[in-house]
Amino acid sequence: MDRWSDVNGIYQIYPRSFMDTNGDGTGDISGIIKKLDYIKGGESSLGVDAIWLSPFYTSPMVDGGYDVSDYCGVDPLFGTLADFKRLLDEAHRRQIRVMIDFVPNHTSDMHPWFKQSASSRDNSQRDWYIWRDANPDGSEPNNWLSVAGGSAWQYDAKTNQYYLHSFLKEQPDLNWDNLEVRQAMKAVIDFWLSMGVDGFRVDAVRWMAKDRSFTDNLPNPNYRVGQDDPYHSQIHTRVGSADQLRTYLGDIAATVEQYDDCIIIFEDYPDFSGVTLEERYRPYLELYDINPRVAMPFNFEGMFTAFRATSFRDFVGTIQSLLTDERIPVYCLGNHDQSRLVSRFGQQQARLIAMMQLTLPGLPVMYYGDELGMSDGHIKNELIQDSFEKNNPGASIGRDPERTPMQWSRDVSAGFTKGVPWLPLPTELQDKTVADQQTDRTSFFALYKNILALRSSTSALRRGAYETSGTNNEHIFSYKRSDKDYVFIVALNFSDQTAECQISEPNLDIIAATSQPISMIDEHTVSLRPYQGIVMARRA
Ligand code: BGC
Repeated sequence: MDRWSDVNGIYQIYPRSFMDTNGDGTGDISGIIKKLDYIKGGESSLGVDAIWLSPFYTSPMVDGGYDVSDYCGVDPLFGTLADFKRLLDEAHRRQIRVMIDFVPNHTSDMHPWFKQSASSRDNSQRDWYIWRDANPDGSEPNNWLSVAGGSAWQYDAKTNQYYLHSFLKEQPDLNWDNLEVRQAMKAVIDFWLSMGVDGFRVDAVRWMAKDRSFTDNLPNPNYRVGQDDPYHSQIHTRVGSADQLRTYLGDIAATVEQYDDCIIIFEDYPDFSGVTLEERYRPYLELYDINPRVAMPFNFEGMFTAFRATSFRDFVGTIQSLLTDERIPVYCLGNHDQSRLVSRFGQQQARLIAMMQLTLPGLPVMYYGDELGMSDGHIKNELIQDSFEKNNPGASIGRDPERTPMQWSRDVSAGFTKGVPWLPLPTELQDKTVADQQTDRTSFFALYKNILALRSSTSALRRGAYETSGTNNEHIFSYKRSDKDYVFIVALNFSDQTAECQISEPNLDIIAATSQPISMIDEHTVSLRPYQGIVMARRA
């Protein structure tokens, strides 16, 4: 099986929305197995070498499974542990690596650990979570806010204390300073890695490290009332201490390193108070430079970058210049928490972004359905599922729109389920289905498939050098990727106008384009149509 260094990318599957085999309207593990040939192995497969599964663990599903009540169990909604083992075998048989989610910061309030902890002040697991008295004036222990809206403290009448929840109140935060917690979590990691999983995406890592003084957060002077997420009304400097994170995550990485060729990817976002990209990313990359042999942070900057050649060039250039030696960048532009690529950027623009993502160094992480150009769903109020939205109506922090079911075909419910889908599908699927796009050489799917195939066939795109090359101006972002075997030139026109691009390398063949036709003016000049991107190559 390929090593991680050969992997062309990671495809995120949100299990609830991928494929339902038992007609309950929710995707399941058997559904993922059924669709593995779509991912890799067949003539019309996407051809991606690794999948990451969002949580399928036992859970009351208050936060879509990120509220875990048994880290080593599979929720009946998704199947059984035997199903998961079958998935692992079937994936590995097709040379697909399997990464799973690890949610260390919090459990569900239904987890037996929390039930014990909440049972009395002197329970032996009391200190596994973060309990505090009210202030002398009766107010909450401090002013910390929950990412899911409102206060981060929940009062427990039985023991007359508050517990901390950085997300929903049903997701109490674990106390990572407690050694028993760390040992219990190490056992969870060992459980899955010894079964054969190939790595973890590690959820919400910043919140694991709380300022032990528990002092108030300061207000954010740049907060725009009514416009920004209320969570950003404060500067959250009381989480994410480097010392603590190094200890907790270093331990996790050390455990992972004991297994052959397994990796972990940390989920976090840089501190947005930094003004320049470098001010934001230098500390971020340093913070997570914990054990680069096995551990690396996500890089989500592209999700918030304005659609301009200059912005993307600065962003990629900054990241690449800050990475040292063998550090592997993880460019991720879409996931289950963010509006979809097409909805954020537009149809043509999303194709350009896809071409960019799949021709940059490192491990690109793609979100299911983006390879079809799926857009955000419209969810009527009565169908809202996400507690973030239910608890904060109108705050626009709900994530259902980007979690709608995969669109397999034009059958009822897009071939996703024979039952009632847990989130609605668009009434008009048009050609945004796998069945339509697998047979269309100009489709979104074909674009992803072609570039993924290129990425597999040469290490130049995965691990080769990156430098800007040829025309780079306000319209065009153009770069060279190369190693001892191949030279690639990628030229991307971010503007809505035709733009001329100089190509600095000789003897190139055009091997991929986001749209046709391609107008070569001469060997060194191409006229790129609005939002057109091309990839050219030659042997080195
Ligand atoms: C996940 C979210 C989840 C949160 C709490 C994240 O960052 O991606 O979906 O709600 O952590 O676990």
